[in-house]
Amino acid sequence: MVKNICCIGAGYVGGPTMAVIAEMCPEIKVTVVDVNANRIDAWNSADLDKLPIYEPGLAEVVRAARGRNLFFSTDIENAIDEAEIIFMSVNTPTKNYGKGKGMGADLKYIELSARQIAKVAKTDKIVVEKSTLPVRTAAAIKSILDNTGNGVKFQILSNPEFLAEGTAINDLKNADRVLIGGDQTDEGLAAIEKLTAIYVHWIPRHKIIQTNVWSSELSKLTANAFLAQRISSINSISAICEKSGADVDEVARAIGADSRIGAKFLKTSVGFGGSCFQKDILNLVYICKTLGLPEVADYWEQVILMNDYQKHRFADNIITTLYNTVSGKKIAFLGWAFKKDTNDTRETAAMYVADILMNDLAEITAYDPKVNQEQMYADMDYLHSRTEDENRKLLKADTSPYSACKSAHAIAVLTEWDEFISYDWQRIYDNMMKPAFVFDGRNILDHKKLREIGFKVRAIGK
Ligand code: NAD
Ligand code: UGA
Repeated sequence: MVKNICCIGAGYVGGPTMAVIAEMCPEIKVTVVDVNANRIDAWNSADLDKLPIYEPGLAEVVRAARGRNLFFSTDIENAIDEAEIIFMSVNTPTKNYGKGKGMGADLKYIELSARQIAKVAKTDKIVVEKSTLPVRTAAAIKSILDNTGNGVKFQILSNPEFLAEGTAINDLKNADRVLIGGDQTDEGLAAIEKLTAIYVHWIPRHKIIQTNVWSSELSKLTANAFLAQRISSINSISAICEKSGADVDEVARAIGADSRIGAKFLKTSVGFGGSCFQKDILNLVYICKTLGLPEVADYWEQVILMNDYQKHRFADNIITTLYNTVSGKKIAFLGWAFKKDTNDTRETAAMYVADILMNDLAEITAYDPKVNQEQMYADMDYLHSRTEDENRKLLKADTSPYSACKSAHAIAVLTEWDEFISYDWQRIYDNMMKPAFVFDGRNILDHKKLREIGFKVRAIGK
């Protein structure tokens, strides 16, 4: 039985995943390590409201296991040395330099982790790819690990993570499936069984899918591509609805009732965000190009192009509706996170919509229950569209939705936070410039009620 595991990378995946493993397997010591000392300090914070990640149910899991068999540390070498299984859960962003710039995955953090494992390991180890990686990455990791010359034997497994932010704890505890890919040799199959033995503590065995490494790596990219494709598909239909009088929510309901299509991931929006959909599809496109499959690359690239179009369409609609200029006009943003129930803002549609409106000199005041002003500025500065001073002049965060909307010409709903629905919309209306517009980028508000109050409502695909 495995007694000691570690995870390199204490981020949105490493932290919650290991916390759940520790809670479910009290006899296994689980150590999560990271180079970022501030992040580790936050994971060790006595105040559970100060964990580095906001995720419903996470604090309770950390409370149950931390200090018992769950540990967060910056001592990476010691954790590697002690562990029988090492998960690699480091970030794999889109490469922003050199070969593959803007498309391929940047594997430098994975390579650094592999080199560190190779340097430190004195006993045989199972190394698990938890990060999302291009197909055949395991071969590169194996080549680094096998060339250390210290006689240690490594087995590389692919065990991609399918959790979604905002529902991570539930997704981990009630996973649709767990995927484990490994070499189809005696040693590889034994390693697959060792990892399976951890998951069977709480996941029914029939939900654990065992495959070869390459199928597992490619399945993760494919799953994200299919999910994102559904959103781009329904968003493309939303554009037809706006020109034809059809209602996109009614169309989604009608097609989702077909059990072959299914109802999930058909919610139209201002465009998908998040750290992975765009990155993983770009990576898939890059892989297709390098494999000499340009038609397949073009097919998947269209999912990204449609998503960009949707964000632009939404922002352009605001400008056109507000009499072709938003210069000097206050636009209130409700929501900045890329989806509800998370503080994550990576690739959030909000920052791209803000960018387009700020190009037109709009003055944006944003309210998000979990995102602060510094994060919003960091997001805007990351786009490099204007100077940091200009970003701070045109964008402000507010800690109250009511003052954020006060004297605004329009409200744009960018995130589907539940609390937006129950606001005192009459009070908001009374304090706005008239005519008062609401652009519902998530179609979550009661549009009929808003119109009765006096708002002019623009929704997606209506
Ligand atoms: P993240 O940026 O939140 O966390 C990664 C962590 O790894 C960071 O804290 C970073 O400091 C640390 N790190 C980087 N290099 C290191 C090194 N050499 N040694 C020690 N620590 C190091 O990223 P994330 O959102 O957790 O994503 C991690 C991986 O999981 C990515 O490949 C992503 O595609 C995949 N994934 C993410 C999600 C999600 O919902 N965020 C879901 C499924 C899969
Ligand atoms: C997504 C996948 O759902 C996870 O299975 C996967 O593990 C993860 O990516 C990953 O690899 O990182 P996540 O990005 O956290 O999870 O959140 P989603 O719920 O998928 O939402 C992504 C974006 O799509 C959000 O901006 C969301 O608002 C948007 N979305 C989602 C829609 O616009 N419509 C929908 O119907 C669903």
